[in-house]
Amino acid sequence: MTILVTGGAGYIGSHTVLALLTRGYDVVVVDNLCNSSEQALVRVQQLAGKALSFAQVDIRDKAELGNVFQQYNIDAVIHFAGLKAVGESNDKPLTYYQNNIQGTMTLLEVMQESGVKTLVFSSSATVYGEQNPPPYHEEQAIGSPSSPYGKSKAIVEQILQDICRAQEQFKVASLRYFNPIGADVSGLIGEDPNGIPNNLMPFVSQVAVGKREKLSIFGNDYPTKDGTCLRDYIHVTDLANGHIDALAWLDKQVNGCCDAFNLGTGNPLSVLDIVQGFEQFTGQKVCYEFAAKRQGDLAAFWADASKARTELGWQPVKSLKDMMVDTWRWQSQNPNGYC
Ligand SMILES: NC(=O)c1ccc[n+]([C@@H]2O[C@H](COP(=O)([O-])OP(=O)(O)OC[C@H]3O[C@@H](n4cnc5c(N)ncnc54)[C@H](O)[C@@H]3O)[C@@H](O)[C@H]2O)c1
Repeated sequence: MTILVTGGAGYIGSHTVLALLTRGYDVVVVDNLCNSSEQALVRVQQLAGKALSFAQVDIRDKAELGNVFQQYNIDAVIHFAGLKAVGESNDKPLTYYQNNIQGTMTLLEVMQESGVKTLVFSSSATVYGEQNPPPYHEEQAIGSPSSPYGKSKAIVEQILQDICRAQEQFKVASLRYFNPIGADVSGLIGEDPNGIPNNLMPFVSQVAVGKREKLSIFGNDYPTKDGTCLRDYIHVTDLANGHIDALAWLDKQVNGCCDAFNLGTGNPLSVLDIVQGFEQFTGQKVCYEFAAKRQGDLAAFWADASKARTELGWQPVKSLKDMMVDTWRWQSQNPNGYC
């Protein structure tokens, strides 16, 4: 099977492309490299011992995207391409709606015109919004996410449901990621954020490697066991494997379908658990200070991941130690990321 992967040069995309190649899929990556490096794809091919095809294309460019679909015989699409910084989305809502919603609509149009009917979509736990109590499970209604980023994911999920209702043979799995961290065990690929990291784990590892002075922990009086926020951290390799299981599940569906699956461990960890875990398993000290809470941060959420286990046959296998050690291997071997 040939899988077209949008955003395949990015953090989760590159790990998923590696998983696809090592399982025998052919892969075509489409990425405009706005938040990634082609070097990630060079390393993925080196690790897999197999070549992929790459087109530097913006998914909003319908003509260019159409050319890629014409050039290859695509069986299914995994759609990672999008912008993902919650804070930035509050400052630039139009940029986020344009990229994440318009980009997806263009992709869907090209898929329709090319007769490609199978899609795995990168959604997010943020679609549950503030109203749903944790653990989040898929039967809970999509909520009202507070940021334009979260709204863009919720809107795309709804667009996908409408398309599946209108087109009987369309098959979609929306994967709602919790908090992906870690890196491939080789240390050759990992998360390489532009500028100041928005997420906890790259910030922790950049402090440890000496790129940043100290970590700011936003809030220490949340109603949690140690006052810091609780999240469901999931190893990026486990997450990548979830996409392979989703593709296999979609392949088995005889009729069209549109379903959502949580990809998390179901095990909430606090910010301090992560800092202490990193120090314990890597031996590296992480300086930190407490800072004011950030607007919109929820105290705690984590996954009920039982649906992915029973229906997709997916189960995370990596431990907290793996997440910490693999993050540090990537960061210490690549202090400046792919540069
Ligand atoms: N990392 C997380 O914490 C997280 C959590 C939930 C959901 N997600 C979603 O998963 C997906 C992948 O996230 P990631 O962490 O790998 O992010 P990333 O920024 O590393 O990867 C996204 C990739 O998409 C590319 N891209 C962006 N806009 C594009 C466009 N218009 N055309 C072509 N390529 C484009 C970027 O260059 C990048 O390579 C995103 O859709 C994100 O919203 C991520």
